[in-house]
Amino acid sequence: MHVTVTGATGLIGSRLVRELVARGDAVTVLSRNPRRARESLGAGVECFAWDPESGPPPVESLRGRDGVVHLAGENVAQRWTEDAKQRIRRSRELGTRNLVEGLRVTEDRPGVLVSGSAVGIYGPHGNELLDEQTAAGSDFLAEVVKAWEREADVVAALGMRVVKLRTGVVLDAEAGALAKMLPPFKAGIGGPVAGGRQYVPWIHIADVVGLILAALEDDAWRGPVNATAPEPASNAELSKALGRVLHRPAVAPVPALAIRVLYGEMADIVVKGQRVVPRRALELGYSFRHPQLDEALKSTLA
Ligand SMILES: NC(=O)c1ccc[n+]([C@@H]2O[C@H](COP(=O)([O-])OP(=O)(O)OC[C@H]3O[C@@H](n4cnc5c(N)ncnc54)[C@H](OP(=O)(O)O)[C@@H]3O)[C@@H](O)[C@H]2O)c1
Repeated sequence: MHVTVTGATGLIGSRLVRELVARGDAVTVLSRNPRRARESLGAGVECFAWDPESGPPPVESLRGRDGVVHLAGENVAQRWTEDAKQRIRRSRELGTRNLVEGLRVTEDRPGVLVSGSAVGIYGPHGNELLDEQTAAGSDFLAEVVKAWEREADVVAALGMRVVKLRTGVVLDAEAGALAKMLPPFKAGIGGPVAGGRQYVPWIHIADVVGLILAALEDDAWRGPVNATAPEPASNAELSKALGRVLHRPAVAPVPALAIRVLYGEMADIVVKGQRVVPRRALELGYSFRHPQLDEALKSTLA
């Protein structure tokens, strides 16, 4: 396959590119900083400059490719100031619109767009089970993800297949949520957040990559697909599992207020949680590489 990847320098993109290259696939990368992208991803990938908010990507980066994976966007896991909210929304809504415009003007365009998305689309639902048929929510993140998916859906009118990967909390020891949790847990002062009964829609990084590859390759995949492990864990279960794997106590409770002081409105993601299940991926026959939490943690921390 020849695949174009945006956001390739990020947590998910860098692991995806590594796996594509290892399989012998050809990779084109679109980055705001192509020199840095080439340095971090290796000489085997072709890099083009593209700022998602500036306009469509160059046609040469899309023409004749088999698929596009769109992962670029301002990091959501930060304090949501008004400026940050605008960057989070614009980079996805306008960025996806510009990518789609690039695809529209490209002859011999790719057959599939695998577009990043997030379980945040459902909004908070307590401990209710959420699958792809659950209606979208209406908080800030849900509105962002709805706009982001709406822009991606436009490629269907160009005759392209579109898969929207509604990703949960990606577990990777090197970056993202787990990397942030590690220092207190390694010091033995980690523990459940906000009572710990809320669910964490976790997924091992290797399964996010596995789902993207399946979505690229299999024509049966289309529409929204939750990228979460089959058995979501409560925050308390995740804390206990992390303590077990690190051989550290994990009983120091973290009050919701502490997280809210640090992150403001963004804290809702952690404090309220979401119990998401990957119904579509299982129906489509995807076999999870790391379905079990303790093993998934051991694998990424090894
Ligand atoms: N990681 C998770 O747990 C998780 C969960 C749910 C959804 N997702 C979604 O999946 C996608 C990929 O996630 P990730 O964790 O790999 O992301 P990430 O590590 O934050 O990286 C995303 C990439 O997007 C580009 N980027 C950053 N800020 C940008 C901005 N303001 N405007 C345009 N491009 C920008 C950067 O690439 P260049 O500098 O090379 O351009 C960056 O490497 C994101 O859209 C994210 O929201 C991730």
